[in-house]
Amino acid sequence: MKIAVTGGLGFIGSAVVRHLLGPTTPRGEDTIRGEDPIEPIEVMNVDKVTYAATTGSVASVAESPFYHHVAIDIADGSALREAFARFEPDAVIHLAAESHVDRSIDGPDAFVRTNVVGTYELLQAARFEAERRNVLDSFRFVHVSTDEVFGSLGLDDEPFDETTAYDPRSPYSASKAASDHFVRAWHETYGLPTIITNCSNNYGPFHFPEKLIPLMILKAVAGQPLPVYGRGDNIRDWLYVEDHARAIVTALRRGEPGQTYAVGGNAERTNLDVVQTICDQVDAELGDEVGDRRNLIEFVADRPGHDLRYAIDSSKIQQELGWVPSIEFTDGLARTVRWYLDNEWWWRPLLSERYDGQRLGVAVAS
Ligand code: NAD
Ligand code: DAU
Repeated sequence: MKIAVTGGLGFIGSAVVRHLLGPTTPRGEDTIRGEDPIEPIEVMNVDKVTYAATTGSVASVAESPFYHHVAIDIADGSALREAFARFEPDAVIHLAAESHVDRSIDGPDAFVRTNVVGTYELLQAARFEAERRNVLDSFRFVHVSTDEVFGSLGLDDEPFDETTAYDPRSPYSASKAASDHFVRAWHETYGLPTIITNCSNNYGPFHFPEKLIPLMILKAVAGQPLPVYGRGDNIRDWLYVEDHARAIVTALRRGEPGQTYAVGGNAERTNLDVVQTICDQVDAELGDEVGDRRNLIEFVADRPGHDLRYAIDSSKIQQELGWVPSIEFTDGLARTVRWYLDNEWWWRPLLSERYDGQRLGVAVAS
């Protein structure tokens, strides 16, 4: 099976590529379950290589003859169509995106270009390629989206599921919502077999240090102040990235075209709770030579339009496709802290060359 993975040098995309080509492949799982035919997988990683991309995140599989990277902008339709005609994919897993809410507040343009226009160009390229080879029915287009398209929950609201109405509130979530609508339209109008996943917050190895968990780990390690937005009472539902990678590949192999699957970790935590747990875990690993790291926490100006709470009911993908999250949050967080301590080679150059941990997304007009 030939799969074009977009955004495969990013956080989740690289986990998908490692899952598809690494030693714990879905082929192994299927052998155990005695389901789906076992077939070799070949991956074309379509990644423009933005600030968020790291080749080190796929180093464990990059030497495989079944792995290729093409540095293409998904908003460049003709380059995409040429690459698809050469590779002849059976499926697309679409993860390429501008992904950071704070950056979308500072500069929404790139979010519209990549997340909206890029998704449109990718849909067109997939459709033309599937039609050209007369494989439209067997083709699959998996669109990896976010729970943020559903807006913000109150503390007593039921979690989001596949029936929740769209209500995006940030430039990032608006661009992702638009992309979801285009994907559905290509299924209804052109018969492209699309599947959408809407997932909650991911964490784990190779997470770019602009996001809450890696940023707090690296600042805690350095003994620097830990900036918590508002009062730290916003709630996110955390999922270990490798569990998400399995969910995406499960949706590709077993999902029904035209369907949407909500994916979550069933691990709601306030931001303050997450940051305090990180402090305790770093103290336990490194000792408290800088004092109790909880004392580094500083409450800072809130994110504009900060969504209060996200939570996902993932019963549908669990019951219909047999996916379940396997890694419990505190354990996954401890593994993540350990991974950052062991892999300075990966994150140190990012801090010195790309992003030094400064505050983003305060909506100051430039
Ligand atoms: P990321 O920012 O870590 O990686 C994005 C990757 O896409 C990078 O490698 C980048 O180079 C590439 N890319 C960006 N613009 C491109 C373009 N125009 N053409 C080609 N490649 C381009 O993102 P992530 O956190 O891994 O998120 C991946 C996907 O999953 C996104 O679509 C995001 O909306 C979705 N998602 C993320 C989370 C999360 O918690 N991180 C949760 C749910 C859904
Ligand atoms: O819910 C899924 C989404 O999760 C994905 O679609 C996005 O791509 C991903 O970035 C993530 O969005 P969030 O905005 O929830 O993630 P972030 O790590 O930026 O922030 C998590 C929470 O932590 C949020 O409530 C804001 C807060 N925060 C963040 C940073 C960077 C802080 O309090 N301090 C910080 O320094």
